[in-house]
Order: sequence, then C-alpha cells, then structure tokens
Amino acid sequence: MGKFTRRWILPLVYFTDNWLSRIGLFLLLSATVLWIFLTGASAASGYLGILQFVALPATFFLGLVLVPLGISLQRRRESPDHHVLPDKIDLANRRVLRFLLFVGGATCANLIIGGALTYQTVHYMESTNFCGTACHVMAPEFAAYQAGAHAQVKCVECHIGEGAGNAIRAKVNGTRQLFLVTTGRYQRPIPSPPHGLKAAGETCENCHSPRHDYGQRLWRRTQFNDAGERLETALMLKLGAIHRAHRGVSYEAADERRSRMLAVRTKSGAEYATDGYRAGKETAVFRRDMDCLDCHNRPAHEFENPERSVDQMMTEGRLPQRLPLFRKAALDALRGEYAPGAAAAALPARLLAFYEKNQPAVPREELVKAGRELVSLYERNVFPAMRVGWGTYPQHLGHTDSPGCFRCHGDELKPKKAGQGLTQDCEACHKVIGVEEKDLKAMQELGG
Ligand code: HEC
Ligand code: HEC
Ligand code: HEC
Ligand code: HEC
Ligand code: HEC
Repeated sequence: MGKFTRRWILPLVYFTDNWLSRIGLFLLLSATVLWIFLTGASAASGYLGILQFVALPATFFLGLVLVPLGISLQRRRESPDHHVLPDKIDLANRRVLRFLLFVGGATCANLIIGGALTYQTVHYMESTNFCGTACHVMAPEFAAYQAGAHAQVKCVECHIGEGAGNAIRAKVNGTRQLFLVTTGRYQRPIPSPPHGLKAAGETCENCHSPRHDYGQRLWRRTQFNDAGERLETALMLKLGAIHRAHRGVSYEAADERRSRMLAVRTKSGAEYATDGYRAGKETAVFRRDMDCLDCHNRPAHEFENPERSVDQMMTEGRLPQRLPLFRKAALDALRGEYAPGAAAAALPARLLAFYEKNQPAVPREELVKAGRELVSLYERNVFPAMRVGWGTYPQHLGHTDSPGCFRCHGDELKPKKAGQGLTQDCEACHKVIGVEEKDLKAMQELGG
C-alpha cells in the first residue's frame, strides 16, 4: 500500500460520508466536467472566458477546501485518536459502495447538465446578439451592422473560420481579449482588420458567385450646397469589368490596414511596385491574394460619411432642404467634440446656438426635429469611449472617402520596365455622366 493511497485515497473513500465533503466532491466534479466540455467549444468572446477562467477555478478550489474539511471533521468525530483507517479499499464495505455510487451519480448528473448548459452557452456565444451586445467594445460595429445589407449574416460566419484550429485560436484570442477588456488595456479603436477574418471564398462566395457578371450600373449622388441648391453627380459604373479585372491579383502592403500598397502582381505575372520596395527600403508586413474584401472592406459594418448622410437625409426630406445654411450648421454640429454620452443634449444645443447667432428667425420646432435626426446619425457612427469617430474605419470602394482603388491605381506603383502603371483612366472604371451639376439633364430624363 503506497503512502499516497494511505494518505489521500483511503480517507477520501472512507471519510467523505458527510455533507461537507459531499458538497465539496460535487463541486470538484462539476468544475472538472464543465472544464472538459468548454475545452472543446469555440469561445466567441468574453463571458465564456469569465466562466472558464474565474468561476470554474473558484468552484474547484472551494471543493478542494470542503472535501478535506469534511474528512477531518468526520475523522475527529469517529476516531479521535486519528489512527483507525482500513488498510485497503474493500468493495464490499458499505461506505466504499456509497462513495462510488455518489461519485458515479454526480458525474452522470454533471455530464447531462453540463452538456446541455455548454451547448446552450456556446450556441448563445456564437449568436450575433451576444457578439454585438455582451461586450461594449463591439458597440460601434454592432450599430453599423444592424443597418447593413448583411444584418442576417452572423458575426462568427465572417470572423471565425471553421475547424478545430480556428476554434482554439478564437478561444485563446477571446481569453486574451477578456483579459484586456477587464484590465482596460485593449486598444481603442479596435485594430482593423481583425485576425482570423475568413477569406471571401469561405464567406461572400457562399452567397454571391464570383463569376457573376454585374454589367453596368448607374451610380448617383445628390448633394446640397450652402445655398440649399441640389447638385447631382452620376456615373455609369462598369461593374462587370471591375469585378472581372482582379481575378488572380495578389499584393503586398506596408501596413495591416492595407492602406499603403507596396507591390501588386497580376495573374499573368506582371509586377507593379513602389521604388522603395524595389530598392529594398520598404518591407511588406501583409501579403494577400486579392478578393472581395480588398474593395468591399466594410461589408457588414460600414460607417457613414457625415456629408453623404446629411445629403441623403436632406434628399429624403428627413432633414430640412430649404433652411438657410442648414448643411453647414448640421455638419458643424456633427463634427463637434462631445464627452461620452453628452451628444444627445449637446449636439442639438449646438445647432440651436448656431441659428440663434446667425439666423434667429428660423422656427425652433424645425431645428429640434432636425436635431433629433442628427443625434441618431451621430450615435450610429461616433463612439468616443472607443475612440471611433468619423473616418476611423474608411471604406475602400471608390476614391473619395479613402484612396480606395487608387491605393493600387495611383502613381506610386510602377511596372518593372518603364511604362504605364495600373489604369487611371476615368472611363476604365466608369463613364462620368456629370459631376456636381445643378441641372443634370440625364438625371431629369430618368425622372430623378
Ligand atoms: C459579412 C462579413 C462580416 C460580418 C457578418 C461581420 N463582420 Fe466584422 N469585419 C468584417 C471585415 C471584412 C472586417 C475588416 C474591415 C476592414 O478591413 O476595414 C471586419 C472588422 C471587424 C472589427 C475590427 C474593427 C473594424 O471595425 O474594422 C470588429 C470589432 C468586428 N468586425 C466586429 C463584428 C461584429 C461584432 C459583428 C456582428 C455584429 C461582425 N463584425 C460581423 C466582416 C464581417
Ligand atoms: C448569407 C449570404 C450572404 C453572404 C455570406 C454575403 N452576402 Fe452580400 N448580400 C446577400 C444578400 C441576400 C444581399 C442583398 C441584400 C439586399 O439587397 O438587401 C447582399 C448584398 C450585397 C451587396 C449590395 C448591397 C450593399 O451592401 O452594398 C454587396 C456589395 C455584397 N452583398 C457584398 C458581399 C461581400 C463582400 C460579402 C463577403 C464579406 C458578402 N456580401 C457576403 C447575401 C450574402
Ligand atoms: C476591385 C474592387 C472590387 C472587388 C475585388 C469586388 N468588388 Fe464588388 N463592387 C465593387 C464596386 C466599386 C461596386 C459598386 C459600389 C457602389 O455601388 O458604390 C461593387 C458592387 C458589388 C455588388 C452590388 C452590385 C449591384 O448591382 O449593386 C455586389 C453584390 C458585389 N460587388 C459583390 C462582390 C463580390 C461577391 C466580390 C468578390 C467575389 C466583389 N464584389 C469583389 C468593387 C469590387
Ligand atoms: C490591390 C490592388 C488593386 C486595388 C485596390 C484595385 N485594383 Fe483594379 N487592378 C489591379 C490590377 C493589378 C489590375 C490589372 C489586372 C491585370 O492586368 O490582370 C487592375 C485592373 C483594373 C481594371 C481593368 C483595367 C483595364 O485597363 O482594363 C479596372 C476597371 C479596375 N482595376 C478597377 C478597379 C476599381 C474600380 C477599384 C476600386 C474599387 C480597383 N480597381 C482597386 C489592382 C487593384
Ligand atoms: C480604378 C477605377 C477608377 C478610376 C481610374 C477613376 N474612378 Fe472615379 N470612381 C470609381 C468608383 C468605383 C467610384 C464609386 C465610388 C463609390 O462607390 O462610392 C468612383 C466615383 C467617382 C466620383 C463620385 C465621387 C463622389 O463621391 O461624389 C467621381 C466624381 C469620380 N469618380 C471621378 C473620377 C474621375 C474624374 C476620374 C479620372 C480622373 C476617375 N474618377 C477615375 C473608380 C474609379
């Protein structure tokens, strides 16, 4: 009989026949079973981490205290001299039997309860609601997501790849994030793009065929000038050509955000690169085969551009078109700096103050109504606590809000031998029908 058995196993088998030890044993078993279950689960985020790394160990250690405490009390009660202990595990002994029955029963109960619980927890953890709301850090993305075309696509469908490797990576990452969030040391704004983002082949292309011919499409924008006049821009976007042109393109970028491209290669092997890259002065930190996400980088949570949104809302009549200087005043109020949570009151106040100073005749009710619309626009896009403001996460589809297409189609990327870089011909991408025109005949003919 080993020392270990005499010291630990025998007391455990013979002297845990009391409530304290039984509760302790149950806690130990619960913690262990849940731990095993959670190890197979893919933690999408924080709370699973709290459960796993705070609640489970706490339960385990409480059990670890209760079991010996019970044993010690029971031994003292039954044999004050501390020496009476059987010298082997006798399966016919009623205490041993009761011990085994208890452990077996408790394990079964734990397996059933734990299994159902973790299944539900994991299911919940992977739900959009959880990703978007359980963690306040995701508030900006969640707000933008709900307004988008993909509000039914779950966060995890784009953010966590399939398979055990990805699940483990997400789990480790989630735990690290939990630690950073609880200690307040996470980065604000959250860096973009996040690690673990799936390639478009596993996401977008499940629903959109990469070979679909998008043909040509009218693109238009209505703006207002300070005098409240409408200006129309219209393009015929060559979407078929744009989507066809980039198959097989790969690139290297100087930063993870892919805002500065260093080298681009086409399917046929042509290379366009910056002088610095060719001379070995600039090194790439990010390499990728180009796909949908390099242009559509905000497919599910696109933040708005204040000018475009104000114009849009004026066009729709949600904001007044005819108030003098309204667009200017609205943009001024939207761009103001407000403390977290203060904008709801301070933004409309700023709008009112502007009019009191410049146009006191304007009726107050109209401004109050406009103020409400502006606050909701602001609160969908600006999150001071996360340091997310206008333009923090630009989108790359064109060349107005960010360099977009011109990250590659600009002047910096040059072919190996002297010659033209990637096309900058306006007509390669779109036919320009009119830019900021007051009377755009073509639009009027279309009834716009
Ligand atoms: C259709 C795919 C898709 C879905 C669905 C999606 N995302 Fe994203 N997410 C992306 C892409 C692509 C990026 C990288 C953005 C970039 O490169 O500019 C990203 C970036 C992020 C970032 C990094 C910061 C930023 O804004 O760039 C966070 C945080 C994030 N997503 C959270 C979420 C949350 C929370 C949900 C669900 C409410 C969600 N995402 C749903 C595709 C998606
Ligand atoms: C689960 C299916 C599904 C997935 C995955 C998906 N989409 Fe979509 N997407 C749709 C549907 C359906 C629409 C049409 C929605 C509508 O018109 O309201 C759409 C609309 C769009 C549009 C036009 C509307 C807009 O927001 O500009 C673009 C662009 C787009 N998707 C790109 C993408 C990209 C890029 C990805 C990958 C990150 C992707 N989609 C992933 C189903 C999907
Ligand atoms: C080279 C950049 C680029 C790439 C790569 C790209 N797109 Fe697009 N896509 C665009 C542009 C630009 C538009 C027009 C955007 C607008 O309306 O403002 C567009 C529009 C769309 C639309 C809306 C079409 C419509 O009729 O309104 C869908 C859907 C779409 N893309 C899906 C995809 C998918 C899926 C992929 C990947 C297989 C992809 N795109 C790759 C640039 C790109
Ligand atoms: C990552 C680099 C990159 C980005 C970003 C990019 N392109 Fe391109 N584009 C290329 C390359 C490389 C080619 C040449 C492909 C080839 O020759 O096979 C190309 C070719 C094209 C062509 C065909 C040109 C021709 O002469 O026929 C069009 C149109 C085009 N791109 C439009 C766009 C638009 C629109 C955007 C932005 C929404 C965009 N590109 C963004 C790399 C890029
Ligand atoms: C590589 C492709 C490409 C080239 C080259 C290009 N554009 Fe564009 N341009 C786009 C795309 C894509 C959009 C649509 C942007 C969006 O969806 O927001 C656009 C949008 C625009 C707009 C509307 C912007 C706004 O927000 O009001 C104007 C104006 C414009 N382009 C002018 C030009 C002119 C002029 C040239 C030539 C000097 C040119 N573009 C060259 C791709 C291109």
